Amino acid sequence: MSQKFDPADDIVAYNRAAWDSQVRKKNRWTVPVSSEEIQRARNDDWGIVLTPEKPVPRGWFPDFRASPIEVLCLAGSGGQQAPILAAAGANVTVFDNSEAQLAQDQVVADREGLAMTLQQGDMADLSVFENETFDLIVHPCSNSFVPNVLPVWREAARVMKRGANLLSGIVNPIFYLFDDQLMEKGEFKVCHKIPYSDLASLSAEQRQAFLEDDEPFCFGHTLTDQLGGQVEAGLAITGLYEDCWSDWPISDYIPTFIATKATKS
Ligand SMILES: C[S@@+](CC[C@H](N)C(=O)[O-])C[C@H]1O[C@@H](n2cnc3c(N)ncnc32)[C@H](O)[C@@H]1O
Repeated sequence: MSQKFDPADDIVAYNRAAWDSQVRKKNRWTVPVSSEEIQRARNDDWGIVLTPEKPVPRGWFPDFRASPIEVLCLAGSGGQQAPILAAAGANVTVFDNSEAQLAQDQVVADREGLAMTLQQGDMADLSVFENETFDLIVHPCSNSFVPNVLPVWREAARVMKRGANLLSGIVNPIFYLFDDQLMEKGEFKVCHKIPYSDLASLSAEQRQAFLEDDEPFCFGHTLTDQLGGQVEAGLAITGLYEDCWSDWPISDYIPTFIATKATKS
């Protein structure tokens, strides 16, 4: 990490530098899409994910070709969802905390001749955008990197037009209950409470390892905050499915990801 921040002092700054570092390490969620995928999207053959594996149903998207729409990829850079949606015909703005992640979207935009607006910032504060700016928000699994998800839902709802949808990937908090190292071996020992925070729950040894490896710190939000928070922000949940990361042993027992569609009336 070029500049070291203490996660307890400034979690947004720490996680920004951590994600910049994940780009250098080629973390799966930082690797841009190929030219072939962009070409297929230009021919209306495309899909994106909000969670690790299942593509979002096409019925959750409006028809971009009928009339161009304004899409916000919220905490969703890395050269993945945004360029696909731009190639499919949407006007795309990408908002993310990490400059290096945003640069991955710029790489694809330059390579493919796509126009996208890139904006750096914290997902809890969308004050750079006017009320009712977007027809669609795509928010892939990323709110596990902020300590409080409620302002994210409030801000998303504020910048959505009436009739717009917010498509979000969410980590089921059950994932955070167990001892992490044992869970990787397929053993499930409950040792944490929900809401979960890496800030409060990592041992001194684990914390040191995270800092040395530039690992982002995570937070496990309650379902009340994840689902109820969207409703409290004025949205109606109009679609939901669950998903797995098949490599994770816990996937043999429960899907640990949820995708939601929430509509502003
Ligand atoms: C797992 S990646 C998600 C993007 C990826 N394209 C995907 O498909 O999931 C998590 C993203 O959240 C961003 N992020 C973390 N904390 C953030 C914050 N406070 N505000 C905005 N973005 C944040 C990271 O920089 C990173 O790009």
